[in-house]
Amino acid sequence: MEASTRTAMQPILTLTVNPALDISTSTEQVTSGHKLRCSPSRLDPGGGGVNVARVVQRLGGRTLAVYTAGGPTGEAYRRLIEAERIPTLVVPIQGSTREDFTVDETTTGKQFRFVLQGPELSESEWRACLALVEESIPVGGYVVASGSLPPGVPDDFYARVARLARGHDARCIVDASGPALAEALAEGVFLVKPSRRELGVHVGAALESDESQVEAASALVADGSAEHVALTLGGEGAVLASKSGTLRLSVPQVQVRSTVGAGDSFLAAFVLRLAQGRTLEAAFRAAVAAGTATVTTPATELCNRADVERLESGLAAAVEGRP
Ligand SMILES: Nc1ncnc2c1ncn2[C@@H]1O[C@H](COP(=O)(O)OP(=O)(O)OP(=O)(O)O)[C@@H](O)[C@H]1O
Ligand SMILES: [Mg+2]
Repeated sequence: MEASTRTAMQPILTLTVNPALDISTSTEQVTSGHKLRCSPSRLDPGGGGVNVARVVQRLGGRTLAVYTAGGPTGEAYRRLIEAERIPTLVVPIQGSTREDFTVDETTTGKQFRFVLQGPELSESEWRACLALVEESIPVGGYVVASGSLPPGVPDDFYARVARLARGHDARCIVDASGPALAEALAEGVFLVKPSRRELGVHVGAALESDESQVEAASALVADGSAEHVALTLGGEGAVLASKSGTLRLSVPQVQVRSTVGAGDSFLAAFVLRLAQGRTLEAAFRAAVAAGTATVTTPATELCNRADVERLESGLAAAVEGRP
């Protein structure tokens, strides 16, 4: 049964070295000095690569998700992932998997996101992640390395992943910031997905104008840092720079409820469509559609397939000039 909803695709491996057990809840107003009574909480297995894996699965695709887990939070995390039936390989760690905390303020619609630091990884733990990636890299497929690096993991960790991927003829996609992003770019990757803030920090500019955005993204393609740069601009859409030129898409009008997971959803749809053999333009449209679909869902909830496909065909129709 399941097979009929899945399209033949190249394999995708995702890597999450700093996953987080996402706890989300809401309260009337966030103030100091009082107990803040909260609504029932929701638990999700979050973190860059795992979120990518979860969205790919919702969109009818398949991944192998490699992630670290430790302590009681790691146990809870594993159970949540198992419930979603995502194929995984776990690297056990000594420390406890971190927790993230999201509170929606119901009276204002504001969202407060507390992102905690991850447990420190020992050298043998992060080397075990690399060894597992190396063993399981899908030859001719995709490796998606996404999310922050926890303490103890060297800045060149994603650069090492990129090197392993290249050695196995796989395409490496990186979503990271700061030194981890810089090192990956210095190594050279297939695709990077910085947000405006992340690319801005990297190039030391605010990237407010269209021209500065295109220029910064194209420069990374020109100097060989990445074959493709998908620069996401939140509610202003995204820019895709490649050797063949640049594309820009604005987002369809939607009601924004929570932007948690927007970037991961963008990346998931992008890599899934590429793995399904679609063109770069089609993958880019699906990516914008998935990012936008995710912001319409509350708190940590990710997108669903029907919304993504509706927004995706809307964007395709706009490009072709159809009503
Ligand atoms: N306010 C919004 N309205 C509509 N779509 C949005 C909005 N914010 C984000 N998106 C969608 O999600 C994509 C990714 O968003 P964004 O640029 O904020 O990246 P991000 O990775 O979530 O950001 P960061 O990592 O800096 O928190 C956008 O390209 C767009 O498709
Ligand atoms: Mg992001």
